[in-house]
This record gives sequence, C-alpha cells and structure tokens, in this order.
Amino acid sequence: MTQLTPVLSAHWDEKDSFTIEGYKRHGGYDAVGKALEMEPDAVIQLIKDSGLRGRGGAGFPTGMKWGFIPQGDNKEHYLVVNADESEPGTCKDMPLLMANPHVLVEGIIIASYAIRANYAFIYIRGEVAHVVRRLQQAIAEAYAAGHLGKNIHGKGFDLELVLHVGAGAYICGEETALLDSLEGFRGQPRLRPPFPAIAGLYARPTVVNNVESIASVPSIINNGAEWFSGMGTEKSKGFTLYSLSGHVANPGQFEAPLGITLRELLDLAGGIRPGHQLKFWTPGGSSTPMFTADHLDVALDYEGVSAAGSMLGTKALQIFDETTCVLRAVLRWTEFYKHESCGKCTPCREGTWWLVQILRDLEAGKGTEADLDKLLDVVDNIAGRSFCALADGAASPIISSLKYFREEYMQHLNNGGCPFDPIASTKFEAAGSR
Ligand SMILES: Cc1cc2nc3c(=O)[nH]c(=O)nc-3n(C[C@H](O)[C@H](O)[C@H](O)COP(=O)(O)O)c2cc1C
Ligand code: SF4
Repeated sequence: MTQLTPVLSAHWDEKDSFTIEGYKRHGGYDAVGKALEMEPDAVIQLIKDSGLRGRGGAGFPTGMKWGFIPQGDNKEHYLVVNADESEPGTCKDMPLLMANPHVLVEGIIIASYAIRANYAFIYIRGEVAHVVRRLQQAIAEAYAAGHLGKNIHGKGFDLELVLHVGAGAYICGEETALLDSLEGFRGQPRLRPPFPAIAGLYARPTVVNNVESIASVPSIINNGAEWFSGMGTEKSKGFTLYSLSGHVANPGQFEAPLGITLRELLDLAGGIRPGHQLKFWTPGGSSTPMFTADHLDVALDYEGVSAAGSMLGTKALQIFDETTCVLRAVLRWTEFYKHESCGKCTPCREGTWWLVQILRDLEAGKGTEADLDKLLDVVDNIAGRSFCALADGAASPIISSLKYFREEYMQHLNNGGCPFDPIASTKFEAAGSR
C-alpha cells in the first residue's frame, strides 16, 4: 500500500513547529542559502525538472509559469501567493500556515529570487484571524533574522514581503480577481489575455501561486529534482496534501504521493465512520464532479481523476455516507455559488439563482421530472458560457449528482419531500408509496 510521505507536515506535532527556532532545527532556511548560490534561471530549471505542478487546483507546471516572466525588461516583477482557500472542503493551506508558516516564507524568498521580484505579497482571506497572526509573526521573525529585507544572506538580493488580508470572498481566490482586490478594487475576474505573467499586479509581470506550491519549493532545492520526481506518477510528480473531511473516522490532512487512491487514504484515516458505508465524495472540493463507491480505486493524480470524469482540484476529499441526502448537499453547495457569484456576467449571476430555486423546490418534493431536465438546461447555459471557472464549478455538483443519483431526485418527488427527513419519510411510508 502507498505510504504517507510527510515533508510539509513532517513536524506539525512539535509544539514550536511554527517558530523560526522550530523551523531551523530541521534545516529551515538552508534552501535559501543554496538557492542564492545559484543563478535565478537555474532555480527555475530545477523546479521545471522536478515536475512540480500548481497545487491551487489547475495543476499548471510551476517552473513553466515562472519561466513566462519576461527577463531583462527593466520592469518590477511581483510574486503573489494565493492564500484565499475558500473552496468548500479545502483545508490544507490554513493548517499548513498554522503549523509551519516559515516554509512558505522560505519558498517565497526562493521563488522571488528566481523570477527576479523584489516585492512579494501573500493574499489571505480575512476570516482566518488566527492564521493571519501566525503569518505576521513568522514574517517579523524572518525580517529580524535577515531572511527578508535588504541584502538577504549578504548576497545582494532584496525582498519586501507584504501580508494582505482580504475581506473574505470566494471569487478573490480566482487569480485575476485576487489581483484586482489586492490593488484595492472590487474583486472581479479580469479579461485574459493579457495574462498575469505579462500584465498582473499594477500591470507588471506577476506570478500567482498557491500556498502549497510555493511551500513545496524549499524541499526541492534541498533534496533535488530527482528526489521530488521520484514520488508520484508519470505526469503528476511529488507529494501533496490530501484533506479528508466528513464521515471518516479520522479526518485531517494526509501528505502522500500523487496517485494514491481513496481506498488507501481511507485505510490510513481509519475508514468511514463505524457502521456506515461510503455514498459519494468529491475528489477536489465541491467544484469537482462527485464520485461514488465505484471510484475508490481511481488514482488521485491529475490524469487519473480526469480520466474518471472529474478533476483533482485541491485534493479536498469530502466524504459522505449513506445518511446524507445528495440533493440537500448539492443544494447547500449551489447556495454557496449563488452567494459567491461576483455578478459580473449574466449566465452565472442569474443562473445560479435559478438553480437554487429549482433545487429548493425539488428538495421540498415540489415539481415534476421535467424539472430535472430544466436543471440540466440551466446548467448548460452557465457552464462554459460564463466569464470565469466559478460558474463551471457551480455546474459540477448538479451534473454529477444527476448522473449518479437521479433516482434519489425522483424519490423526493414521489415522497413529497426528502426521504432522509424523518417527518417526510413517515408521510411517504404512510402513503404506501415506498
Ligand atoms: C472561483 C475560483 C476560486 C479559486 N480559489 C483559489 C484559492 O483559494 N487558492 C488558490 O491557490 N487558487 C484558487 N483558484 C485558482 C487560481 O485562479 C490560480 O489558478 C492558482 O492560485 C494558481 O496557483 P498554482 O499554479 O500554484 O496552482 C481559484 C480559481 C477560481 C476560478
Ligand atoms: S462566472 Fe460568476 S463569478 Fe465568474 S465573473 Fe461571471 S459572475 Fe463573476
């Protein structure tokens, strides 16, 4: 069976893991020393060779993204770290920042050096005040120790790191909306091209990377590209943080090689809660089409999950057992997307509102079978026809739940309400229709 590969999470259970002393005890900030001895382009090449792909959802190769930054252009370059983490079910970046904020700070220094940026930003959402405090402390410690500021490690490289606290909006995790928000505007996605690598923050070449992507960099510098690419699968290299939540015996973060299966992760997590069976699950947050017990052996890497009809996304495995009403779960997610739709484009702004109305009626047992097709029709007018991927994410739970659980939608109609609701069930049984 595939075993855990704790790297980012290796020392989370030490009581001072978040301090600079705790981090240095395990070789913290050694990688900065090594990277500053290299040419910036050599650092980019090393990250390319490692096969590291962005951990924010899309899996774009990190080294290639860094390589897009034009060099010798006489412009300021920026690194922006996306610490918004608002996708339902996703809970890896915040635990990582609570337990080991310095690994991100160290990764930021190396990445900024590689792309020749002298300013870096962390955009974090406002609700996580405890994580903000911890990061502020880590940044202050790094400045005091000479890892940030002027002439870092005496190598002539300067870097200022700014922690920016957002107001808490899911759309501000979308990288161009994030940049608008960081500039002080209302967070709404930008038209692309130009892409951030050409005109990002303040219209300057900018790299936007997820927390986990940047935090993975110091270990690659320390151990080499081959060490990293020796883990994982052919096209999905390395270790990553899988977050298991919901009806599992031991929920939490499990750091394992890409390509592990849910069956193996469940073994490590003590299985589904006692006395229950797996009903459905998301491989990468609510925006990724759901799976069922038939998908327990799908390799959880970018290619495996996509071949099985979903996306690896943020590796947020939300597990639901047979006590969960799939329609209710889908309605809750859809309410989230309706609330978080930024309103910029009509299909998403109007469509998510209509989806909620139809789903609420269906949950209450109102409507007809034709409403299931209406749901799919509305979804068809949203997905692929909206300005950004939030709308595609809103479509995923609906399309996939109708694919696997259409019968359960029908039960709501036949039942005159939710079959999982004890009052509605009694009514249903009394009517003799079950
Ligand atoms: C609606 C929406 C929300 C997103 N939220 C996040 C987020 O919270 N964190 C994140 O890293 N990426 C998020 N992304 C993806 C980012 O746009 C971007 O792809 C990512 O930050 C790139 O980092 P990576 O290459 O390191 O994965 C979101 C995308 C969309 C469409
Ligand atoms: S798809 Fe939704 S979130 Fe994205 S720009 Fe349009 S309205 Fe805003």
